[in-house]
Amino acid sequence: MSASASGFDDLQSHAARLSGASIAGLLKDEPGRIEAQALQVGPLYATFARQRYDARAWEALLALGRQRDLAGAFRRLFDGEKINVTEGRAVLHTALRGDLSQAPAAREAHAVAAEVRQRMRGLVEALAASDVTDIVSVGIGGSDLGPRLVVDALRGPLPGRFRVHFISNVDGAAAQRVLAPLDPKRTAAIFISKTFGTQETLLNGAIVRDWLGGSERIYAVSANPGRAAASFDIAAERVLPMWDWVGGRYSLWSAVGFPIALAIGMDGFEELLAGAAQFDAHALQVPLDSNLAVRHGLAAVWNRNALGLASHAVMTYDQRLALLPAYLQQLVMESLGKRVRLDGSPVAADTVPVWWGGAGTDVQHSFFQALHQGTGIVPADFVGTVRNDDPYAANHEALLSNLLAQTEALANGQDSGDPHKVYPGGRPSTTILLDALTPQSLGALLAMYEHSVYVQSVVWGINAFDQFGVELGKQVANALLPALRGESKATDPVTAALIARLRG
Ligand code: F6P
Repeated sequence: MSASASGFDDLQSHAARLSGASIAGLLKDEPGRIEAQALQVGPLYATFARQRYDARAWEALLALGRQRDLAGAFRRLFDGEKINVTEGRAVLHTALRGDLSQAPAAREAHAVAAEVRQRMRGLVEALAASDVTDIVSVGIGGSDLGPRLVVDALRGPLPGRFRVHFISNVDGAAAQRVLAPLDPKRTAAIFISKTFGTQETLLNGAIVRDWLGGSERIYAVSANPGRAAASFDIAAERVLPMWDWVGGRYSLWSAVGFPIALAIGMDGFEELLAGAAQFDAHALQVPLDSNLAVRHGLAAVWNRNALGLASHAVMTYDQRLALLPAYLQQLVMESLGKRVRLDGSPVAADTVPVWWGGAGTDVQHSFFQALHQGTGIVPADFVGTVRNDDPYAANHEALLSNLLAQTEALANGQDSGDPHKVYPGGRPSTTILLDALTPQSLGALLAMYEHSVYVQSVVWGINAFDQFGVELGKQVANALLPALRGESKATDPVTAALIARLRG
């Protein structure tokens, strides 16, 4: 695709026109900018007023979105068209939480998901009636990060009916640390793997099975239930299915959310789905110019392709959301870390920036120096909650004042006669406020990010739903196991030297 056909050159000319504009200047020159650049969707409020585009540049972004037929793209997603073209699959995580499409594939997916949730409710009730106190969830990537985030965000200050623990890393130290304080007689385990072929989960599953002394209290979630049952001799009634039309990083809404249901109750899990469904309706039905997923996705495209910014941070001003950056790293970077378009041709513009971040206010005392005065500009999402649920009102005020202060200082900077004390400003951010942290608002927030990712993928013309890039490392690791055991020789000379050192 030529640069002019790509639609990105227009954005770059707007960026050149705006290169001398300050964020404060944009606010002064555009009366009504604050209202025009803010959106409220259910429990979510977001303001883009501190992004570095003006109304004309925003029109150019919208024109790009229309040219890419974002509205049609949403329709195709919700209808269960096989938009994951490289794997020939539909992508129907939206059908797990709502029925916004009359298309047969979507209706069928919605119905089968409801049946599985019913079964899951039964399993939650049976476990609640047992003497089990602790749950160990074994999985990695999409089979871990979503449940881990939601459980950590929504669990109360005291343990609920169950304490839920997670093992993901293949490093045996992870399993050892989780299991050491637990009592195998009072613990049940959930092995979560879409494929049930993932090395980490199979190895950690075997550790947990042996530690439990059998498979009686092991549950499994998989798109390959037969393999799950056979690998660990798990009775069929304790195996919950998922399907190839649910991507791993989009799967917390399926039975992959079983640990969530155990931590916050099945009703809480349903509220999480309802919050996501509410956002789904917004994403699908609201016109592009007032659509929050579109706004968020196009702002990301602006920062990447018009301003050329190579990383993006997410800062959570709510300790309970501390795992959000880790979750988003997989959601965003596994989805958008692509260099070829759907047809295999090279992309016309840079795709995903590096996503990273952390929890405020801690990170203010670590990497914020670089955000304020480093040579690189890092656009950021600041996520906070209006209402806190702890009894420490003064701390909540301090937390919020820090969120406000950081976004203001990053945007406006400060001059000084001393070059060491100059803050250049011009550092864009989006502030996202949740009314309160509830299953519903968290569901909406995560759905917003999912749909923003989809918007970006459609603009870039890439497939957000495959992840071939993670395969090569897995293959090489498998091939190197015999060399590590001394049964063969590594062909790469650096690897061979390292293996010699590892083997002593
Ligand atoms: O690391 C790649 C990946 O395939 C992720 O996309 C996926 O979420 C994770 O591995 C775990 O896969 P599975 O659920 O099949 O064990």
